[in-house]
Amino acid sequence: MVKKILDQNNLINREIINSYDLDYIFSDSPINRLKNEPLVANKIEKLNELKEKIQNIQNCELKKNASKIVFADGNINSSIMIVGEGPGQKEDELGKPFVGDAGMLLNKMLKAININRKNIYITNVVNFRPPNNRKPEPDEITKYSNFLRNHISIIDPKILVLMGSTAMESLFGSKIKISKERGNWKEVIINNKTYLTIITFHPAYLLRQSDQKKYSWEDLKNIRKKIEELNINI
Ligand code: URA
Repeated sequence: MVKKILDQNNLINREIINSYDLDYIFSDSPINRLKNEPLVANKIEKLNELKEKIQNIQNCELKKNASKIVFADGNINSSIMIVGEGPGQKEDELGKPFVGDAGMLLNKMLKAININRKNIYITNVVNFRPPNNRKPEPDEITKYSNFLRNHISIIDPKILVLMGSTAMESLFGSKIKISKERGNWKEVIINNKTYLTIITFHPAYLLRQSDQKKYSWEDLKNIRKKIEELNINI
């Protein structure tokens, strides 16, 4: 009898999990369910709404040419959020950010500072693959930047990592240069909240310019140091 009830509960749990329209990986760490459940449900709802809004974007060349939306990956409750540029071929095929060569390098970079990719949250400036992997046009970056700002607000990270010039331009405009700005802590205000932000090189750029990895390594160590300073559990 007890076993039958347990089996039924497992079945219901599985159905609830399967009904989520999101491919997020939730943190394994224990949570206070009573305290966090409404917040998490609210986050999931907001993320679903945002994903739907992006899915319904009109007059977008990127969407017309892509096979599917690439929304995000990782732990929605993470204190660390990474923003890349846009999906490549593999990402477009699988519907997940950073799963191709740049993604493999990103995983290694994170591992080098003792971070498991599963424990952070990753998204891109544009959520549909640009044709032939071209850089998103300035008007496309602008068009998607409201979505990105909204995305950041929902995740509410303690540290925001902008990888590459497209991510930098999306939040800081095109007047600054990544070669000058990378590695410095900055603040970005979104919906009246200030987010601690660091700009660093994109892994795809590092694959082409391996002599720049030394700067990227400085930034990664800097990020690790900030994690310790802020007592972030990751
Ligand atoms: N490059 C990006 O900026 N994002 C991805 O998801 C993959 C490659």
